[in-house]
Amino acid sequence: MRRIYFDNAATTPLLPEVADHMSQLLKEEFGNPSSIHFFGRKARTIIEDSRKKIASHLGASIAEIFFTSCATESNNLCLKNSVRHLGIKRIISSPVEHHCVTHTLASIKDEVEVVMMQVDELGRISLSELEDLLKGSKDETLVSLMYANNEIGNLNPIEKISSLCKEHKALFHCDAVQAVGKFPIDVSKVRFSFLSGTAHKFHGPKGVSFVYINGDNNIPPMIHGGAQERNMRSGTENVYGIAGMSLALDKAVEEMQQRKTKILKIRNILKDGLLKIDPKIRFNGVQDDDNFLYTVLSVSFPKGPKSELLHFNMDIAGICISSGSACSSGVENDSDVLTAIGHDPNRKTIRFSFSHFNSEDEVDYVLTKIHSFYS
Ligand SMILES: Cc1ncc(COP(=O)(O)O)c(C=O)c1O
Repeated sequence: MRRIYFDNAATTPLLPEVADHMSQLLKEEFGNPSSIHFFGRKARTIIEDSRKKIASHLGASIAEIFFTSCATESNNLCLKNSVRHLGIKRIISSPVEHHCVTHTLASIKDEVEVVMMQVDELGRISLSELEDLLKGSKDETLVSLMYANNEIGNLNPIEKISSLCKEHKALFHCDAVQAVGKFPIDVSKVRFSFLSGTAHKFHGPKGVSFVYINGDNNIPPMIHGGAQERNMRSGTENVYGIAGMSLALDKAVEEMQQRKTKILKIRNILKDGLLKIDPKIRFNGVQDDDNFLYTVLSVSFPKGPKSELLHFNMDIAGICISSGSACSSGVENDSDVLTAIGHDPNRKTIRFSFSHFNSEDEVDYVLTKIHSFYS
Protein backbone atom coordinates (compact mmCIF):
# COMPACT_ATOMS: atom_id res chain seq x y z
CA MET A 1 0.00 0.00 0.00
CA ARG A 2 1.22 3.49 -0.80
CA ARG A 3 2.18 5.51 2.28
CA ILE A 4 2.53 9.26 2.20
CA TYR A 5 4.17 11.03 5.10
CA PHE A 6 2.93 14.56 5.67
CA ASP A 7 3.64 14.71 9.39
CA ASN A 8 7.15 16.16 9.40
CA ALA A 9 6.41 18.63 12.20
CA ALA A 10 5.92 15.60 14.46
CA THR A 11 9.17 14.05 13.34
CA THR A 12 11.21 13.69 10.18
CA PRO A 13 12.70 10.58 8.56
CA LEU A 14 16.40 10.10 9.19
CA LEU A 15 18.62 11.17 6.28
CA PRO A 16 20.18 8.03 4.75
CA GLU A 17 23.69 9.46 5.11
CA VAL A 18 23.02 10.20 8.78
CA ALA A 19 21.80 6.62 9.28
CA ASP A 20 24.96 5.28 7.57
CA HIS A 21 27.24 7.50 9.61
CA MET A 22 25.53 6.56 12.87
CA SER A 23 25.57 2.82 12.14
CA GLN A 24 29.27 2.92 11.42
CA LEU A 25 29.86 4.70 14.73
CA LEU A 26 27.54 2.27 16.53
CA LYS A 27 29.68 -0.61 15.35
CA GLU A 28 33.08 0.95 15.95
CA GLU A 29 32.95 3.71 18.54
CA PHE A 30 31.80 2.11 21.75
CA GLY A 31 34.09 4.07 24.03
CA ASN A 32 32.81 6.12 26.95
CA PRO A 33 33.76 9.74 26.19
CA SER A 34 34.77 10.21 29.83
CA SER A 35 37.40 7.45 29.64
CA ILE A 36 40.90 8.72 29.10
CA HIS A 37 42.10 5.75 27.03
CA PHE A 38 42.12 5.42 23.23
CA PHE A 39 38.42 4.47 22.79
CA GLY A 40 37.27 7.13 25.21
CA ARG A 41 39.34 9.79 23.48
CA LYS A 42 37.87 8.81 20.09
CA ALA A 43 34.32 9.14 21.43
CA ARG A 44 35.22 12.47 23.06
CA THR A 45 36.56 13.74 19.73
CA ILE A 46 33.29 12.83 17.99
CA ILE A 47 31.32 14.81 20.56
CA GLU A 48 33.57 17.84 20.52
CA ASP A 49 33.72 17.94 16.71
CA SER A 50 29.93 17.84 16.66
CA ARG A 51 29.69 20.63 19.23
CA LYS A 52 32.06 22.76 17.17
CA LYS A 53 29.98 22.31 14.02
CA ILE A 54 26.64 22.95 15.71
CA ALA A 55 28.05 26.04 17.45
CA SER A 56 29.39 27.39 14.17
CA HIS A 57 26.01 26.91 12.41
CA LEU A 58 24.42 29.03 15.14
CA GLY A 59 27.14 31.67 15.49
CA ALA A 60 27.65 30.48 19.09
CA SER A 61 30.82 29.68 20.98
CA ILE A 62 31.43 26.00 21.70
CA ALA A 63 31.19 26.68 25.43
CA GLU A 64 27.56 27.75 24.94
CA ILE A 65 26.28 24.49 23.41
CA PHE A 66 25.12 21.65 25.66
CA PHE A 67 23.69 18.30 24.61
CA THR A 68 20.54 16.92 26.21
CA SER A 69 18.08 14.10 25.48
CA CYS A 70 15.30 16.17 23.89
CA ALA A 71 14.06 19.73 23.55
CA THR A 72 11.54 19.04 26.29
CA GLU A 73 14.48 18.53 28.65
CA SER A 74 16.30 21.59 27.28
CA ASN A 75 13.26 23.81 27.80
CA ASN A 76 12.60 22.44 31.29
CA LEU A 77 16.22 23.10 32.24
CA CYS A 78 16.21 26.72 31.07
CA LEU A 79 12.82 27.67 32.46
CA LYS A 80 13.00 25.96 35.83
CA ASN A 81 16.59 26.85 36.60
CA SER A 82 16.24 30.47 35.55
CA VAL A 83 13.55 30.78 38.17
CA ARG A 84 15.38 28.77 40.80
CA HIS A 85 18.86 30.16 40.27
CA LEU A 86 18.84 33.42 38.29
CA GLY A 87 16.29 35.25 40.39
CA ILE A 88 13.60 35.31 37.71
CA LYS A 89 10.35 36.48 39.30
CA ARG A 90 8.16 36.74 36.22
CA ILE A 91 7.87 34.78 32.95
CA ILE A 92 6.03 36.21 29.96
CA SER A 93 4.93 33.61 27.45
CA SER A 94 2.02 32.78 25.16
CA PRO A 95 -0.75 30.17 24.98
CA VAL A 96 0.47 28.90 21.60
CA GLU A 97 3.79 27.58 22.92
CA HIS A 98 4.45 23.84 22.83
CA HIS A 99 3.23 21.88 25.87
CA CYS A 100 6.83 21.37 26.98
CA VAL A 101 6.83 25.10 27.72
CA THR A 102 3.22 25.70 28.84
CA HIS A 103 3.10 22.62 31.07
CA THR A 104 6.53 23.43 32.52
CA LEU A 105 5.31 26.93 33.34
CA ALA A 106 2.19 25.45 34.95
CA SER A 107 4.41 23.23 37.09
CA ILE A 108 6.34 26.22 38.51
CA LYS A 109 3.42 28.62 38.88
CA ASP A 110 3.87 28.70 42.67
CA GLU A 111 7.49 29.83 42.27
CA VAL A 112 7.13 32.53 39.61
CA GLU A 113 4.50 34.85 38.20
CA VAL A 114 3.50 33.57 34.77
CA VAL A 115 1.94 36.08 32.39
CA MET A 116 0.36 34.68 29.23
CA MET A 117 0.11 37.16 26.37
CA GLN A 118 -2.91 37.37 24.10
CA VAL A 119 -2.76 36.09 20.54
CA ASP A 120 -5.04 37.31 17.76
CA GLU A 121 -7.16 35.16 15.41
CA LEU A 122 -4.07 34.47 13.30
CA GLY A 123 -2.09 33.40 16.35
CA ARG A 124 0.12 36.52 16.45
CA ILE A 125 1.42 38.06 19.65
CA SER A 126 1.42 41.84 19.93
CA LEU A 127 4.81 43.50 20.29
CA SER A 128 3.18 46.51 21.95
CA GLU A 129 1.62 44.23 24.58
CA LEU A 130 5.05 42.71 25.17
CA GLU A 131 6.61 46.16 25.46
CA ASP A 132 3.93 47.32 27.91
CA LEU A 133 4.43 44.21 30.01
CA LEU A 134 8.19 44.68 30.03
CA LYS A 135 7.85 48.36 30.96
CA GLY A 136 5.17 47.64 33.54
CA SER A 137 7.23 45.82 36.14
CA LYS A 138 10.68 46.02 37.67
CA ASP A 139 10.65 42.29 38.50
CA GLU A 140 13.42 40.17 36.97
CA THR A 141 11.72 38.82 33.84
CA LEU A 142 12.23 36.06 31.33
CA VAL A 143 10.34 36.03 28.03
CA SER A 144 9.69 32.57 26.59
CA LEU A 145 8.43 32.73 23.02
CA MET A 146 8.94 30.17 20.29
CA TYR A 147 10.57 30.83 16.95
CA ALA A 148 8.08 28.90 14.80
CA ASN A 149 4.79 27.37 15.81
CA ASN A 150 4.49 23.63 15.30
CA GLU A 151 0.71 23.58 14.80
CA ILE A 152 -0.19 26.58 12.69
CA GLY A 153 3.25 27.51 11.37
CA ASN A 154 3.47 31.11 12.58
CA LEU A 155 6.84 32.80 12.95
CA ASN A 156 7.35 35.16 15.86
CA PRO A 157 9.14 38.49 15.18
CA ILE A 158 12.22 37.10 16.88
CA GLU A 159 14.60 40.02 16.25
CA LYS A 160 12.13 42.53 17.65
CA ILE A 161 11.38 40.36 20.68
CA SER A 162 15.10 40.00 21.26
CA SER A 163 15.68 43.79 21.08
CA LEU A 164 12.79 44.48 23.46
CA CYS A 165 14.21 41.96 25.91
CA LYS A 166 17.64 43.56 25.64
CA GLU A 167 16.23 47.07 26.11
CA HIS A 168 14.28 46.04 29.21
CA LYS A 169 16.99 43.74 30.58
CA ALA A 170 14.82 40.64 30.35
CA LEU A 171 16.12 37.19 29.52
CA PHE A 172 14.88 35.63 26.28
CA HIS A 173 14.25 31.89 26.04
CA CYS A 174 13.35 30.70 22.55
CA ASP A 175 12.05 27.25 21.67
CA ALA A 176 13.48 27.13 18.15
CA VAL A 177 12.70 23.46 17.57
CA GLN A 178 10.71 23.94 14.36
CA ALA A 179 13.07 26.60 12.99
CA VAL A 180 16.53 25.08 13.38
CA GLY A 181 17.82 23.96 9.98
CA LYS A 182 14.96 25.77 8.20
CA PHE A 183 15.85 29.39 8.88
CA PRO A 184 19.29 30.93 9.40
CA ILE A 185 19.89 31.49 13.11
CA ASP A 186 22.82 33.57 14.29
CA VAL A 187 23.04 34.13 18.02
CA SER A 188 25.96 36.51 17.53
CA LYS A 189 23.59 38.90 15.70
CA VAL A 190 20.27 38.29 17.47
CA ARG A 191 20.60 38.02 21.22
CA PHE A 192 19.08 34.98 22.93
CA SER A 193 19.64 33.91 26.53
CA PHE A 194 18.56 30.34 25.80
CA LEU A 195 17.64 28.58 22.55
CA SER A 196 16.69 24.95 22.03
CA GLY A 197 16.71 22.67 19.01
CA THR A 198 16.09 18.95 18.54
CA ALA A 199 17.64 16.61 15.97
CA HIS A 200 14.55 14.66 14.94
CA LYS A 201 12.89 17.72 13.41
CA PHE A 202 15.69 18.18 10.88
CA HIS A 203 16.22 14.57 9.74
CA GLY A 204 18.47 13.62 12.63
CA PRO A 205 17.84 10.93 15.24
CA LYS A 206 15.33 11.03 18.08
CA GLY A 207 16.44 11.34 21.70
CA VAL A 208 19.07 14.02 21.23
CA SER A 209 18.86 17.79 21.40
CA PHE A 210 21.05 20.79 22.02
CA VAL A 211 20.54 23.88 24.09
CA TYR A 212 22.36 27.15 23.55
CA ILE A 213 22.96 28.92 26.84
CA ASN A 214 24.39 32.40 26.45
CA GLY A 215 27.65 32.68 28.41
CA ASP A 216 26.17 35.50 30.54
CA ASN A 217 23.59 33.20 32.09
CA ASN A 218 25.06 30.74 34.48
CA ILE A 219 22.42 28.22 35.41
CA PRO A 220 23.21 25.04 37.33
CA PRO A 221 22.28 21.60 35.97
CA MET A 222 18.93 19.88 36.37
CA ILE A 223 20.44 16.39 36.15
CA HIS A 224 23.26 15.67 38.59
CA GLY A 225 25.86 12.93 38.44
CA GLY A 226 29.17 12.46 36.70
CA ALA A 227 29.53 16.11 35.62
CA GLN A 228 29.34 15.46 31.88
CA GLU A 229 28.65 18.39 29.54
CA ARG A 230 30.91 20.57 31.69
CA ASN A 231 28.66 19.71 34.61
CA MET A 232 25.54 21.09 32.89
CA ARG A 233 23.98 17.72 32.11
CA SER A 234 25.28 14.58 33.75
CA GLY A 235 24.93 11.14 32.18
CA THR A 236 27.04 9.35 29.57
CA GLU A 237 26.59 11.23 26.33
CA ASN A 238 24.56 9.89 23.39
CA VAL A 239 27.65 9.80 21.15
CA TYR A 240 25.89 8.41 18.05
CA GLY A 241 22.92 10.70 18.44
CA ILE A 242 25.11 13.77 18.84
CA ALA A 243 27.14 12.84 15.75
CA GLY A 244 23.91 12.18 13.79
CA MET A 245 22.43 15.50 14.91
CA SER A 246 25.55 17.37 13.83
CA LEU A 247 25.63 15.75 10.37
CA ALA A 248 21.88 16.32 9.89
CA LEU A 249 22.33 20.00 10.74
CA ASP A 250 25.28 20.30 8.34
CA LYS A 251 23.03 19.01 5.57
CA ALA A 252 20.05 21.13 6.57
CA VAL A 253 22.16 24.29 6.54
CA GLU A 254 23.87 23.37 3.27
CA GLU A 255 20.60 22.54 1.48
CA MET A 256 18.35 25.08 3.24
CA GLN A 257 17.43 27.11 0.18
CA GLN A 258 16.83 24.15 -2.18
CA ARG A 259 14.71 22.38 0.41
CA LYS A 260 12.69 25.53 1.07
CA THR A 261 12.01 26.13 -2.63
CA LYS A 262 10.85 22.56 -3.14
CA ILE A 263 8.66 22.49 -0.03
CA LEU A 264 7.05 25.87 -0.76
CA LYS A 265 6.08 24.67 -4.23
CA ILE A 266 4.47 21.53 -2.80
CA ARG A 267 2.69 23.56 -0.12
CA ASN A 268 1.27 25.97 -2.70
CA ILE A 269 0.02 23.18 -4.95
CA LEU A 270 -1.75 21.62 -1.97
CA LYS A 271 -3.29 24.96 -0.92
CA ASP A 272 -4.58 25.75 -4.42
CA GLY A 273 -5.89 22.22 -4.91
CA LEU A 274 -7.75 22.25 -1.60
CA LEU A 275 -9.48 25.54 -2.41
CA LYS A 276 -10.60 24.06 -5.73
CA ILE A 277 -12.16 21.12 -3.87
CA ASP A 278 -13.94 23.41 -1.41
CA PRO A 279 -13.62 27.22 -1.41
CA LYS A 280 -14.86 27.24 2.19
CA ILE A 281 -11.63 25.67 3.36
CA ARG A 282 -9.51 28.05 5.47
CA PHE A 283 -5.85 28.02 6.46
CA ASN A 284 -4.92 28.68 10.07
CA GLY A 285 -2.20 31.16 10.96
CA VAL A 286 -0.38 33.78 8.92
CA GLN A 287 -0.13 32.98 5.20
CA ASP A 288 1.30 36.20 3.76
CA ASP A 289 4.64 37.54 2.64
CA ASP A 290 6.61 34.35 2.97
CA ASN A 291 6.39 35.00 6.69
CA PHE A 292 5.48 31.54 7.92
CA LEU A 293 7.00 28.18 8.68
CA TYR A 294 6.94 26.76 5.15
CA THR A 295 6.96 23.15 6.34
CA VAL A 296 3.50 23.49 7.95
CA LEU A 297 0.02 23.99 6.48
CA SER A 298 -2.83 23.91 8.97
CA VAL A 299 -6.12 23.43 7.14
CA SER A 300 -9.52 24.12 8.64
CA PHE A 301 -12.28 22.15 6.89
CA PRO A 302 -15.91 23.28 7.15
CA LYS A 303 -18.19 21.33 9.48
CA GLY A 304 -19.93 18.35 7.95
CA PRO A 305 -19.99 14.56 7.81
CA LYS A 306 -17.21 14.54 5.20
CA SER A 307 -14.79 16.56 7.25
CA GLU A 308 -15.67 14.58 10.42
CA LEU A 309 -14.28 11.43 8.84
CA LEU A 310 -11.43 13.04 6.93
CA HIS A 311 -8.64 12.18 9.32
CA PHE A 312 -9.82 8.58 9.59
CA ASN A 313 -10.25 8.24 5.80
CA MET A 314 -6.82 9.71 5.12
CA ASP A 315 -5.26 7.19 7.47
CA ILE A 316 -7.07 4.34 5.71
CA ALA A 317 -5.75 5.73 2.40
CA GLY A 318 -2.17 5.62 3.74
CA ILE A 319 -1.81 9.38 4.19
CA CYS A 320 -0.08 10.29 7.46
CA ILE A 321 -1.14 13.68 8.78
CA SER A 322 -1.91 15.12 12.17
CA SER A 323 -5.24 16.39 13.47
CA GLY A 324 -5.59 19.67 15.31
CA SER A 325 -7.45 18.10 18.14
CA ALA A 326 -6.61 16.61 21.46
CA CYS A 327 -8.58 13.63 22.66
CA SER A 328 -9.74 13.91 26.24
CA SER A 329 -12.01 11.25 27.80
CA GLY A 330 -12.93 10.04 24.32
CA VAL A 331 -14.10 13.50 23.22
CA GLU A 332 -12.21 15.32 20.49
CA ASN A 333 -11.55 18.96 21.27
CA ASP A 334 -9.56 21.60 19.44
CA SER A 335 -5.95 21.76 20.65
CA ASP A 336 -4.88 24.54 23.04
CA VAL A 337 -3.32 26.43 20.12
CA LEU A 338 -6.51 26.33 18.02
CA THR A 339 -8.58 27.29 21.06
CA ALA A 340 -6.24 30.25 21.71
CA ILE A 341 -6.80 31.61 18.19
CA GLY A 342 -10.56 31.23 18.54
CA HIS A 343 -10.85 28.52 15.88
CA ASP A 344 -14.43 27.39 15.28
CA PRO A 345 -14.58 24.02 17.10
CA ASN A 346 -17.15 22.74 14.59
CA ARG A 347 -14.56 22.89 11.84
CA LYS A 348 -12.00 20.10 11.54
CA THR A 349 -8.34 20.97 11.40
CA ILE A 350 -5.73 18.84 9.72
CA ARG A 351 -2.04 19.72 9.81
CA PHE A 352 -0.01 18.81 6.77
CA SER A 353 3.71 19.14 7.38
CA PHE A 354 6.31 18.64 4.72
CA SER A 355 9.94 17.82 4.11
CA HIS A 356 12.11 17.84 1.01
CA PHE A 357 11.46 14.10 0.69
CA ASN A 358 7.86 14.87 -0.35
CA SER A 359 6.93 15.20 -4.01
CA GLU A 360 4.32 16.93 -6.17
CA ASP A 361 3.06 13.49 -7.10
CA GLU A 362 2.26 12.83 -3.45
CA VAL A 363 0.28 16.07 -3.27
CA ASP A 364 -1.68 15.04 -6.37
CA TYR A 365 -2.48 11.72 -4.76
CA VAL A 366 -3.64 13.41 -1.54
CA LEU A 367 -5.82 15.87 -3.46
CA THR A 368 -7.40 13.06 -5.47
CA LYS A 369 -8.17 11.19 -2.27
CA ILE A 370 -9.61 14.22 -0.50
CA HIS A 371 -11.71 14.96 -3.56
CA SER A 372 -13.08 11.42 -3.51
CA PHE A 373 -13.92 11.65 0.22
CA TYR A 374 -15.76 14.88 -0.51
CA SER A 375 -17.85 13.73 -3.47
C1 LIG B 1 7.87 23.61 19.02
C2 LIG B 1 8.30 22.35 19.72
N1 LIG B 1 8.97 22.45 20.88
C3 LIG B 1 9.39 21.37 21.54
C4 LIG B 1 9.16 20.10 21.07
C5 LIG B 1 9.65 18.92 21.86
O1 LIG B 1 10.78 18.36 21.27
P1 LIG B 1 11.34 16.95 21.77
O2 LIG B 1 10.53 15.90 21.05
O3 LIG B 1 12.79 16.90 21.36
O4 LIG B 1 11.18 16.90 23.24
C6 LIG B 1 8.45 19.94 19.86
C7 LIG B 1 8.15 18.59 19.35
O5 LIG B 1 7.08 18.35 18.80
C8 LIG B 1 8.02 21.10 19.16
O6 LIG B 1 7.38 21.02 18.00
